[in-house]
Amino acid sequence: MIAENSVKRMTPAIGAEVTGLDVNQLTASELSQLRRLWLQHKVLVIRNQKMSLNQLCDFSGYFGELMQLPYITPVDTHPKIICVQKKADEVNMGVFGGDWHSDFSFLKTPPAASILYAETIPPLGGDTLWANMSLALKNLPSHLLEWVENRNVIHTGAPYGIKNAPAADTQFTGSIEIQRNNPEADREMLHPAIVKHPDTGERSLFISPTYTTGIEGVEPDVGCSVLKELFEFCARPEFFCRLRWSANAVVIWDNRNTMHYAVNDYDGFERRMYRTTIAGQSPISGSA
Ligand code: SIN
Repeated sequence: MIAENSVKRMTPAIGAEVTGLDVNQLTASELSQLRRLWLQHKVLVIRNQKMSLNQLCDFSGYFGELMQLPYITPVDTHPKIICVQKKADEVNMGVFGGDWHSDFSFLKTPPAASILYAETIPPLGGDTLWANMSLALKNLPSHLLEWVENRNVIHTGAPYGIKNAPAADTQFTGSIEIQRNNPEADREMLHPAIVKHPDTGERSLFISPTYTTGIEGVEPDVGCSVLKELFEFCARPEFFCRLRWSANAVVIWDNRNTMHYAVNDYDGFERRMYRTTIAGQSPISGSA
């Protein structure tokens, strides 16, 4: 049983930390509570968990079917786990996940959730931020809402390819092997700009500066400037939480109504995490 006082919200906007649990020995009731809390808070943090990679897979499996990520070389022994690592000597370069995004939103069926387990963290820095995209939508000014109601937006993995490649000094070229210039990742995928959560029915924006490159049917220049304004709005601190990691913390987040951002401010120190990804379904339009 998860007691009410074991759940502490991280900010009024998003996220909660749960204490008093051993994720390797969860009861059926704790599991269903954990799932409910995850849907409610969108990001759940549980610290001080000693997990092997097998145990990480077992824990992740409670939240849905694990998927193997395309384009990223997984851990040798575990095809459904990736190692999110930046080594101490990997300096002056970008970091994996180092701008606002929802994981692999450019897929036809983007992931429902991701689970990240911290093995080695830098003494300072390397935090992760999550933004509540349902809250951003609720607060969206009407002149921006008009651009997203009943619209599709274009998602593409091209930032990891050549078409919209970010500046060389911000690209991640370190420990994670990412296949670049892959036509399947670089193709354009249309998703509703406003989606409805399949479990809660809550409406949310489904856009991000990493993967959303245009608005269907809108001139590219106009679409880009509207998206820029939307991204700036969504990344307001009122909508996000920031996690100071500790080794052995595990976090599960909902990719369908959040964006996240890995802060790249720890050059000279190692950060090593292991991530699983939970399969999702085609986004459902949340427009009226
Ligand atoms: C990711 O985007 O999955 C990486 C997040 C992180 O390293 O904090």
